Amino acid sequence: MTETTAPLGTGGTIGPEQQAVEQQLVDTVVASFDDTPDPRLKQVLQSLTKHLHNFIREVRLTEAEWNKGIGFLTHAGHITDDKRQEFILLSDVLGASMQTVAVNNETIGDATEATVFGPFFVNDAPEIPIGGDIAGGAAGQPCWVEGTVTDIAGNPVPNARIEVWEADDDGFYDVQYTDGRVAGRAHLYSDQDGNYSFWGLTPTPYPIPHDGPVGQMLVATNRSPVRASHLHFMVTAENLRTLVTHIFVKGDPQIEIGDSVFGVKESLIKTFEQQAAGTPTPDGRDIAEQTWARTRFDIVLAPEGT
Ligand code: BEZ
Ligand code: FE
Repeated sequence: MTETTAPLGTGGTIGPEQQAVEQQLVDTVVASFDDTPDPRLKQVLQSLTKHLHNFIREVRLTEAEWNKGIGFLTHAGHITDDKRQEFILLSDVLGASMQTVAVNNETIGDATEATVFGPFFVNDAPEIPIGGDIAGGAAGQPCWVEGTVTDIAGNPVPNARIEVWEADDDGFYDVQYTDGRVAGRAHLYSDQDGNYSFWGLTPTPYPIPHDGPVGQMLVATNRSPVRASHLHFMVTAENLRTLVTHIFVKGDPQIEIGDSVFGVKESLIKTFEQQAAGTPTPDGRDIAEQTWARTRFDIVLAPEGT
């Protein structure tokens, strides 16, 4: 019998008969989806089958490892409920969320880049006027955020709906507390000239939830659960592509160390200028006793369907 080097990087040798057995199984499973009426479902399942089998063959997955993987997914299922989504966390730390964002948000002109959605968005956050405060009692340094919303031709976009949400100074979103508070989130609309502004909190680094199987995986791989400091935005406007993004804080050491979900993009890193206590605020708000910060984020929306 002739032995050949395995084609899929095993480092060992796999004979042609064994390779044929394995390939035969791949082909049979792929063919089992041939009659799928929905062509897209057929494509996705056949491709998934090929990649999954190739993965198993490439790493020569042991039965003990297969069992461990099933146990991991079972644990992820058990910890998941309407507030905790371990599968999204898994997708995030594997970079699959950011790869899906990349595939679906091709750069168009100067359109603002998208990044990961994360699990902490909530529908029906309170509406605030332009210049209003999203903190709702959340602890942190006040931060004035201002900017414009335009399309890629530079035209102002009035009435864009801007959703913003962020963690407090202790690194928690309101929904992670059990007292039902609504804090660190709101929505507002750009004005007739596309301008917007609000008071938020200067973002600080925080860990993604890491008390479950995804956290165990990060420990086992010497990876940190910490995200670079950020403020989330989702911006929607008629005939324009919905933008889901964050802004990051220039100088945050976590940007260099690495963001646990690979969400940082250079264009989204913004200067947050620190202001001494007593510096007059843009809207006359009286925070004489406290330092505060300010930043600018000009948002450019791509055309819908691009
Ligand atoms: C977040 O930004 O809130 C987040 C993103 C991915 C995983 C966990 C949290
Ligand atoms: Fe976040």
